Amino acid sequence: MDALELLLTRQSTPRLIAPAPNPQQLQTILDAATRAPDHAGLTPWEFIIAEEDGLARLGEVFVKALQAKGADEDLIAKAKNMPLRAPMVITVVAKVIEHPKVPALEQQLAAGCAVMAMQQAAFAQGLGGIWRTGELAFDANVYQLLGLQSTDQIVGFLYLGTPAIKAPTKTLKDGKSFARYL
Ligand SMILES: Cc1cc2nc3c(=O)[nH]c(=O)nc-3n(C[C@H](O)[C@H](O)[C@H](O)COP(=O)(O)O)c2cc1C
Repeated sequence: MDALELLLTRQSTPRLIAPAPNPQQLQTILDAATRAPDHAGLTPWEFIIAEEDGLARLGEVFVKALQAKGADEDLIAKAKNMPLRAPMVITVVAKVIEHPKVPALEQQLAAGCAVMAMQQAAFAQGLGGIWRTGELAFDANVYQLLGLQSTDQIVGFLYLGTPAIKAPTKTLKDGKSFARYL
């Protein structure tokens, strides 16, 4: 797949099955993340990989976080199984530091670009992925249970695996319709 084909056809894969990215594919995915644009070279990111038992551990983090705020049982049961929707989930964290020239937003954007790069690297290798967040990406108990700081920001849970079905490529939107000349 050439670069423009990747950029013009990338899409998400909500239905993912095993196998997960193998070690070599995962290495490529993580290396691609480090190609994200990064003002001042802060590498403001951390990638927390969950597969096999790790998926259940991530589900337990979600359960404990929701129990701590008194969520209803249905929601808790659903959250427990959320990471099981793929054979691998990478929690992408923006590790934000105080910097005189690089505000928090730019560090969070860099981590977001890393998510996109990882999804593209998965797609280019014939794998599938979907970038998810939801309220748990902003839940203080999740941060504490994952050993994160209050200054950190979870920018995504990147679900990765093998596409369950071969989905048709979605229609491309006309980029020009969102543009104007100054
Ligand atoms: C920051 C961010 C958070 C997202 N969170 C969710 C989410 O929690 N659940 C979801 O179904 N899609 C979420 N999406 C959207 C999907 O990743 C995906 O882009 C969308 O379903 C459109 O599909 P496409 O990527 O094939 O165009 C999120 C996207 C971004 C950029």
